[in-house]
Amino acid sequence: MIKQADMTGPDMLEWLRSRRSVRTFTDEPVARDVLVRLLEGATSAPSNTNRQPWRFTVVRAAAVRAQLVAAVARKVHEMTEIIKRSRHAEDFGSYGDFFHEPLASAQVIVIPQYREYPDLIANMIESGGGDPSRFSTASAMQAELCSTSAAIMALLLQAHAEGLGACMMAGPMVARHEIQTLLEIAEPWRMIGAIAIGHPTGEAPPRGRKPLDRVVHWIEEEDR
Ligand SMILES: Cc1cc2nc3c(=O)[nH]c(=O)nc-3n(C[C@H](O)[C@H](O)[C@H](O)COP(=O)(O)O)c2cc1C
Repeated sequence: MIKQADMTGPDMLEWLRSRRSVRTFTDEPVARDVLVRLLEGATSAPSNTNRQPWRFTVVRAAAVRAQLVAAVARKVHEMTEIIKRSRHAEDFGSYGDFFHEPLASAQVIVIPQYREYPDLIANMIESGGGDPSRFSTASAMQAELCSTSAAIMALLLQAHAEGLGACMMAGPMVARHEIQTLLEIAEPWRMIGAIAIGHPTGEAPPRGRKPLDRVVHWIEEEDR
């Protein structure tokens, strides 16, 4: 077991900050046992009542990856043609690349999925004669989606630790229906974007972060 002292808090922060969304990959394949570690990392995430409401479709086969990429490209093309006719044509610019660029050279594409479960607490309130809408329960925070997002982050960090590059992507959602059909993803499972994975071609540029004072509200003893 790795001792906590092997990596200090400041070391960990520096390492977390060194993760980048990587969008271009070499053609070196990613070994299956490494991918298994990525998935073990993902499933180490916390989840509401330990439901583990996630599933991952791992597309390694080149022909299926190509079909997936083509499905996204077709939808983006269709969408771009529509937007070109709008008054937002210029704003859109090369934004279309954002939808599929990382998929094009990815050696592996992971499609994370989540499913919802009946809200146990809401059911208990109802069976006690109460009105569940008066209480915000797990469904009010989309707990299964949150849990799966935590799993995706763990997967991204494991990829980073393995020296791989990865990019979480919402873009492929444009072809959600086509991708779900291609990969046989059916209800109750819902796809949450795609993760492009591979060996990075180089260093991805760092993206800035909002300073903490814009995103953190401290409530401290001395303020009370
Ligand atoms: C939910 C989500 C959706 C994203 N969708 C895309 C996408 O479709 N295409 C893309 O190139 N990057 C996508 N990204 C990556 C973000 O652009 C990236 O995380 C952000 O710019 C910060 O850069 P960094 O991850 O390198 O720190 C997405 C990230 C998240 C969390």
